[in-house]
Amino acid sequence: MVLPTLPVTLTFLTLLALLSIAKAADNNSTTSGLILLNCGESTQDDDDGGRSWDGDTGSIFAPSMKGDAAIALGQPPSLTPRVPYTTARIFTSNYTYSFPVSPGRMFLRLYFLSTAYEYYAVSDAVFGVMARNLVLLNDFNALQTAQAITSAYLVREFSVNVSSGSLDLTFAPSAHQYGSYAFVNGIEIVPTPDVFATPDIRFVSGDNTSPFTFDADMSLQTMYRLNVGGPAISPKGDSGFYRSWANDAPYILGGFGLTFWKNDNLTISYTSRVPNYTAPVDVYGTARSMGPTAQINLNYNLTWILPVDAGFFYLLRFHFCEIKYPITKVNQRSFFIYINNQTAQEQMDVIFRSGGIGRPTYTEYVIMAIGSGQVDMWIALHPDLSSKPQYSDAILNGLEVFKLQNYGPSNLAGLNPPLPQKPDVNPNRLSSGERKTKGGIQATIGGTAGGFALLLIALFSMCVIYRRKKAAKSPGKTDYGHVKHPTKCIKSTCDLVRHFSFAKIQVATKDFDEALIIGRGGFGNVYIGDIDGGTKVAIKRCDQKSQQGFHEFQTEIEMLCNFRHRHLVSLIGYCEEKNEMILVYDYMAHGTLCEHLYNTRNPPLPWQQRLEICIGAARGLHYLHTGVEQGIIHRDVKTTNILLDDRLMAKVSDFGLSKASPDIGNTQMSTAVKGTFGYLDPEYFRQQRLTKKSDVYSFGVVLFETLCARPVINTELPYEQVSLRDWAVSCRKKGVLEEIVDPCVKEEITPECFRIFPEVAEKCVADRSIDRPSMGDVLWNLEVALQLQDSASYNTSCAEGASSLQISGVHSGKPSTNSTISVAAQEAIFSDIAHPEGR
Ligand SMILES: *[C@@H]1O[C@H](CO)[C@@H](O)[C@H](O)[C@H]1NC(C)=O
Ligand SMILES: *[C@@H]1O[C@H](CO)[C@@H](O)[C@H](O)[C@H]1NC(C)=O
Ligand SMILES: *[C@@H]1O[C@H](CO)[C@@H](O)[C@H](O)[C@H]1NC(C)=O
Ligand SMILES: *[C@@H]1O[C@H](CO)[C@@H](O)[C@H](O)[C@H]1NC(C)=O
Ligand SMILES: *[C@@H]1O[C@H](CO)[C@@H](O)[C@H](O)[C@H]1NC(C)=O
Ligand SMILES: *[C@@H]1O[C@H](CO)[C@@H](O)[C@H](O)[C@H]1NC(C)=O
Ligand SMILES: *[C@@H]1O[C@H](CO)[C@@H](O)[C@H](O)[C@H]1NC(C)=O
Ligand SMILES: *[C@@H]1O[C@H](CO)[C@@H](O)[C@H](O)[C@H]1NC(C)=O
Repeated sequence: MVLPTLPVTLTFLTLLALLSIAKAADNNSTTSGLILLNCGESTQDDDDGGRSWDGDTGSIFAPSMKGDAAIALGQPPSLTPRVPYTTARIFTSNYTYSFPVSPGRMFLRLYFLSTAYEYYAVSDAVFGVMARNLVLLNDFNALQTAQAITSAYLVREFSVNVSSGSLDLTFAPSAHQYGSYAFVNGIEIVPTPDVFATPDIRFVSGDNTSPFTFDADMSLQTMYRLNVGGPAISPKGDSGFYRSWANDAPYILGGFGLTFWKNDNLTISYTSRVPNYTAPVDVYGTARSMGPTAQINLNYNLTWILPVDAGFFYLLRFHFCEIKYPITKVNQRSFFIYINNQTAQEQMDVIFRSGGIGRPTYTEYVIMAIGSGQVDMWIALHPDLSSKPQYSDAILNGLEVFKLQNYGPSNLAGLNPPLPQKPDVNPNRLSSGERKTKGGIQATIGGTAGGFALLLIALFSMCVIYRRKKAAKSPGKTDYGHVKHPTKCIKSTCDLVRHFSFAKIQVATKDFDEALIIGRGGFGNVYIGDIDGGTKVAIKRCDQKSQQGFHEFQTEIEMLCNFRHRHLVSLIGYCEEKNEMILVYDYMAHGTLCEHLYNTRNPPLPWQQRLEICIGAARGLHYLHTGVEQGIIHRDVKTTNILLDDRLMAKVSDFGLSKASPDIGNTQMSTAVKGTFGYLDPEYFRQQRLTKKSDVYSFGVVLFETLCARPVINTELPYEQVSLRDWAVSCRKKGVLEEIVDPCVKEEITPECFRIFPEVAEKCVADRSIDRPSMGDVLWNLEVALQLQDSASYNTSCAEGASSLQISGVHSGKPSTNSTISVAAQEAIFSDIAHPEGR
């Protein structure tokens, strides 16, 4: 009886083996060594990037499975990634997956969605994960981690070198919490070549560096992978390995530098030393430099702050590539790299190292993070002038930070992140000065929808949390030191501002019809709408996912309630319902000043019209600075914030960043730098001290922009022309300013006017704030310029071609005296200065 069964058993076993080989063989992912396992799922499913994930039910990788397959409850909104997050495998006791792999290095990615799973409470998910005897996660508390980074999606990426034929992955519920369980939503394994053991790693200690030898067996955890100066890159956009690259802006501290793209005619040429899988073209093809102004660059460090786990060594890989003419030669740009305030590199010259423009290179450093719990890692760049390079600048294209395993016992696990005391969400369009909550990165590593979607979710949830907190605060109290009486205005005193229901807004905008969008920005969309049976209004719907959050919404309402003037945009009302933040303004038929200057189909504005618009805007700002007790600093003066109504009258808008000016006697306020690059006062930038003169500086840039009709920053131009302010000042110094004046108005400007106008502009953009005029002086001088223009305009016909646009100016009744200011005009100015209440 025994005899016949043996061959049967053998045949059956052989068959099984053959079957599983066949199964493995016709499975694309297994043949290439790539494994995508959707845990708790029985069928195959595609993720948002089109990659096919196999279920772990009955999988050869999950022998004698004893975990529960469970469906995630309370799935977040539809925008979030689905696969592999919809299901999880839950383990109430230890369980080991076993992946047959070829020996060598590979990325291991673990995907977790912190939520409740059927009968399993979200707070009980506390567990460890081991790869053989290497601890990857220890007492990992999914909920606490999710709360700390305000994202429920957690991805952990490791790089391990497997020497035997299988990677065994054990999930173990915590022994320290009763009733805890382990879970996992997805496991991804991507074989890689030997990407770490490069010969050139430096160990940073004090201000010295020494060679560091990378152990071939070493395991690492990816902490940060940043596409510096460029957008997030999803796994699909990576050059092999399905890595996610996040944008670096949330981590920047010391000013945000200048981001730019490669010249179109330039190709990135990889080399045998830097093969194409090192980083995708989109990483090397975008970069962040310090900025176009040497004087600013020499006064600050371009700094990123990255929270990491203390007690580990970190490998930092800096990716560089020069991608813009004219930097093609050695010693044009040379800089320091500081890590944790220590000099990791002097005289970093990318061209010298890479061999030319368009050729990528990278440098690597190892440093110890000292301290306990989570500590900040400081990465900073600063020009190194010791070799007298042509430009005082620095550049970075990409940055990766890996945690190195500790030995004895083998460990990569840090502590759970501390819960934030207060959500760090002061929203900030330029994200300088502030940064994300500690530990935020790991949500943006890997992930099927890429870091970007996850970042959106993170911002969304931060916004919601922030709003709840705000609502709980006692009214009238604010810890931001902005305008006084913050809530009073919304509640009662602001009679002129109406409260709209969401339903009414929906009717006015035909339920936010795309066709009615008249503007898009960092804050969300602006729609044109009808209220009260035909009154045209502009409706700004703040995008909750945007970085301009509730705080700026409230500032804007407060500002516009309390400050009304014919040269400030009028707020009609607002809607704050169902988490919506909506503002309703007077409709400005002619859009922004910027839209009439360049890159536009609008006919060019005649010079006199431009002067009148500048004067209107100056009046608006002068009123802000002087019209109330303390004065208000706008902080974001630019041509896109100067709106034009149906009669082309200028109105200053966008008070989201405005701040009350400090009390007399203490005329400066220290604050995180905000504003728009190209308009930013260098002194404010350097010293982080805000004065009304910062608005004057920005307004000076507006004046040059109006005169020259070009963007204030144009990275397409040669280096010395990138910044309009610098270029205009240098042209004026050389006496060739007329060469860069907008050709459409060049003929119209009278010589007298041309003597004054650029002089005012140049004084406004003086480096030191004490050398700049007050807004009142600026206004006065512009009035003079207009008089000098006006009187001459009678004798010329230059503006007639465009007279259809000359509907109406700020002032009526043209004075007849030439070159001296009329009494009427003087009165007009003085009345405005003396009675700045406006309407
Ligand atoms: C390989 O893909 C097939 C479908 O083509 C799937 O049924 C199978 O489970 C996969 N193999 C493994 C080992 O997961
Ligand atoms: C899987 O392999 C087949 C041929 O073996 C090929 O036609 C198909 O495109 C592959 N699928 C993927 C997703 O690579
Ligand atoms: C589960 O694994 C952990 C970590 O390896 C170990 O400490 C524990 O003893 C294991 N529990 C059981 C029941 O085997
Ligand atoms: C993996 O480690 C072995 C030594 O254990 C080494 O010989 C091999 O080169 C390593 N492979 C990679 C890709 O680092
Ligand atoms: C990288 O280069 C290899 C040839 O050296 C090529 O086969 C591969 O497609 C390239 N990968 C990418 C992402 O460009
Ligand atoms: C590429 O374009 C830049 C200007 O955009 C020019 O200076 C340079 O000579 C061009 N290079 C080549 C190789 O065409
Ligand atoms: C680096 O220096 C700054 C300012 O001096 C300090 O605030 C910061 O804590 C230092 N960072 C580290 C990691 O030592
Ligand atoms: C830049 O950072 C280095 C190292 O921390 C420091 O010595 C230097 O003073 C900093 N420079 C500026 C301008 O902040």
